Amino acid sequence: MFNLTEILNQAEFTKEELMYLLALRGDEQRKLFLRAAIIKEKFVGKKTYFRGLIEFSNICHKNCLYCGIRAANNKVNRYLLQKDSILEAVKFAYNNKYASIVLQAGEREDDEFINFINDLLVDIAKICNGELGITLSVGEQKTEVYKKWFDLGANRYLLRIEASNKDLYEKLHPNNSKHSFDRRLACLKNLQKIGYQTGTGVMISSPYQILNDLADDLLFFKAFDIDMVGMGPFIEHEQTPLFKHCKELPSLNERFLTSLNMIAILRIMMPEINIAAATALQAIDPVGREKAIQLGANVIMPNITPSLNRKDYLLYENKPCTDEGADECLDCLVARIDMAGDEIAWGEQGNSLHYQNRMKKRKE
Ligand code: 5AD
Ligand code: SF4
Ligand code: FES
Repeated sequence: MFNLTEILNQAEFTKEELMYLLALRGDEQRKLFLRAAIIKEKFVGKKTYFRGLIEFSNICHKNCLYCGIRAANNKVNRYLLQKDSILEAVKFAYNNKYASIVLQAGEREDDEFINFINDLLVDIAKICNGELGITLSVGEQKTEVYKKWFDLGANRYLLRIEASNKDLYEKLHPNNSKHSFDRRLACLKNLQKIGYQTGTGVMISSPYQILNDLADDLLFFKAFDIDMVGMGPFIEHEQTPLFKHCKELPSLNERFLTSLNMIAILRIMMPEINIAAATALQAIDPVGREKAIQLGANVIMPNITPSLNRKDYLLYENKPCTDEGADECLDCLVARIDMAGDEIAWGEQGNSLHYQNRMKKRKE
């Protein structure tokens, strides 16, 4: 019914074709990977961009049903890094030519938190003369807050939609106004309107999710004209409500293989976006991130969070790099990217080509 060679020569897919591609395994899956690798090389080159990841606080006011640092998990040792230690990590990224950083934390909307980020952005701009790409990943916020941070130099924002199907979203989150799908979508739209390079993503093979949902997620990224995507496998965490479903889920290896298919298909559908090799891939396969790089991902986020705090930022089980420091992750990833056959784009911010083209169109 489906002719793989023909389908792989297309740039767009129907929902049925997407579901067929998502389920590929074995030799056919390898053909999908090969095609995605060719598209990657042609459009964005065999290049990987580094984004130094600083998980600067695990204090979160939300209760996503899958996440290890949800507010209701009282086993977590909560922290907010001192501004100085965040700035040390920023300097490390700058000095080592990472050219961009990601500031990630649990979600808070209080003034203290917002002002903390305001001040931080001012200091970061001083340290790096505005040369670092700055991505924020601190969840849903008011439009004026997003605007303020953009004006202070943050130029990228990651806000995963987690599930583009509202019904599924509502099964993965508590049923209250703090966890509203509509607000999340509105936030993503606002970010895009303000002018951020806008990134989103989903969890793959989460409880209640079916292949149809993943096909819709891919169509959602395309319809939304998203600039960057970070997506990885769902991995259960014992101290979360969704843990009880882990026996009904596909095996970890199956979740991993579906995740690779998602990345490869998306690279073919949206050849100029930035796609991250999610850390969660490496929680399943020791070379999971390298595999993702080989078949379409072009961004990796070396962890530069101070070592002392890494063990307290456990969103899911088996998270890698919790015993290492920034230097070790750097050496490790240099070797890994080399093994994957890519070149590291030292000193290049690596703005999403898709974003640059979107902005050009906006001006015309
Ligand atoms: N498994 C996989 N990914 C998870 N995240 C949170 N909890 C889990 C989990 N159990 C992801 C979410 C969130 C990102 C920071 O981490 O997609 O957006
Ligand atoms: Fe908080 Fe994000 Fe975890 Fe949800 S996924 S509980 S918002 S840190
Ligand atoms: Fe952190 Fe390998 S990337 S130890």
